[in-house]
Amino acid sequence: MPRSAETENTKAKNTASSQVATNDRPHGRHSLSVTDNRTGKSYEIPIENGTVRAIALRDIKTGPDDFGLMTYDPAFTNTAHCKSQITMIDGDRGILNYRGYPIEQLAEHSTYLETAYLILNGDLPTRQQHEEWAFEITHHTFLHENMKRLIEAFRYDAHPMGILVSTVGALSTFYSEAKSIFDPVARRQQVVRLIAKMPTLAAFAYRASVGLPLVYPDNDLSYTGNFLNMLFRMAEPKYRPNPVLERALDVLFILHADHEQNCSTLAMRAVGSSHPDPYSAVAAAVAALYGPLHGGANEMVLRMLKEVGSVRNVSEYIKRVKQGQVRLMGFGHRVYKNYDPRARIIKQIADQVFEVTGRNPLLDIALELERIALQDDYFISRKLYPNVDFYSGLIYQSMKFPVETFPVLFAIPRTAGWLAQWEEMLLDQEQKIARPRQIYTGPPRRDYRPMDERM
Ligand code: SDX
Repeated sequence: MPRSAETENTKAKNTASSQVATNDRPHGRHSLSVTDNRTGKSYEIPIENGTVRAIALRDIKTGPDDFGLMTYDPAFTNTAHCKSQITMIDGDRGILNYRGYPIEQLAEHSTYLETAYLILNGDLPTRQQHEEWAFEITHHTFLHENMKRLIEAFRYDAHPMGILVSTVGALSTFYSEAKSIFDPVARRQQVVRLIAKMPTLAAFAYRASVGLPLVYPDNDLSYTGNFLNMLFRMAEPKYRPNPVLERALDVLFILHADHEQNCSTLAMRAVGSSHPDPYSAVAAAVAALYGPLHGGANEMVLRMLKEVGSVRNVSEYIKRVKQGQVRLMGFGHRVYKNYDPRARIIKQIADQVFEVTGRNPLLDIALELERIALQDDYFISRKLYPNVDFYSGLIYQSMKFPVETFPVLFAIPRTAGWLAQWEEMLLDQEQKIARPRQIYTGPPRRDYRPMDERM
């Protein structure tokens, strides 16, 4: 990893977000000297990339029968579980780069398919590479006809994320070669199939839920344009996506493509570490994303704005947030302690979309919530800023997406990030099956008692 351009103090500042690897000097100055006061023994622990290896603590023992020290870090708030070259976040400065390219530049100049290629392959494609990539994705969007019957088996009001978890896992039963995860050709084939078929799964689930006939892929359209076609085409012989809405959704897909070690990526890596096929690992990642604290937040933001109902009620709602009764959905982030750079870009896209769809009346409530929160010490002291989910739902709603589909609109683009992180884990010589330790706080050994002797 080339030496970071960061200075020492910037690196120290970034301990809360991505740790950028540097070419560390020999131990000496880059080590911890610790003394175990239980034994008086001292230990020298090397510092690498701003971290110490947890396994090094196992040498710190009180005697030969002692297991040695472990780290205790609920929710991994201060634990790096891998080295990655895919995405860098600087939480303090609100920076997000995919393979070194700033998200602002990709949102302005790139497309989702080109960004997915970048995230998966490590660099932007040449024209020929991009044409081949787009051709492959375009020609793998169809689903096996049996998948239609699986989707139609769900109740009419089934949540689209529940359908997506089930159907993406079911895809593993159609491609037995998907288990050959160390065969690069088979692996790439599944990567193409998953990226190509996620929009089709999502669109089929939506059409089935509203009782509309399924619309098959149209290879003349772009990745995002075809998605809109499969969702919204009615009686017209040829669906023509509104170019402003098509571009807005494509940029939203770029913004959601990866985000280093978030909860759903952790699920992808952890499940992937036992070596199932990638469809099963993606199903686990979709399940993690479903949660309202993660990808389900964009749906919860819309429900929150509807609950607030009017700009007049914003101050009352903020009071309830500060009393801990409710959370300000779409605010806060484990890593960003500054404005989420994606939220800034999404706010700009909103203006373009509303010129086509008409202004979303809930926007005024969102803007007032943000205005008050950004000047209130409760939020300032906790470094709570709008995150990627705060404004995205307003755009989706204005584009006539049902609120239940919002997390699905997060899952589709994140598939590229999950797959890139999964492949990086598989090829990382340091990685093996994930199996953390615990601190046991349960009852000591005790003997079985017959039922009649139990109180
Ligand atoms: C995503 O990890 C990623 O990268 C995720 C993501 C991605 O691209 O993959 O960026 C996508 O998931 C964005 C986050 C979407 N979720 C939400 O908007 C839900 C609302 N936000 C939160 O629940 C919360 O901010 C989290 C889950 C996002 C982060 O939680 P943390 O880091 O565990 O922070 P915390 O819960 O420990 O909160 C710290 C303090 C607490 O107050 P105290 O207990 O110290 O008094 O801040 C408060 C929290 O109560 N707090 C909030 C709040 N978020 C945190 N208070 C009110 N409203 C909120 N939204």
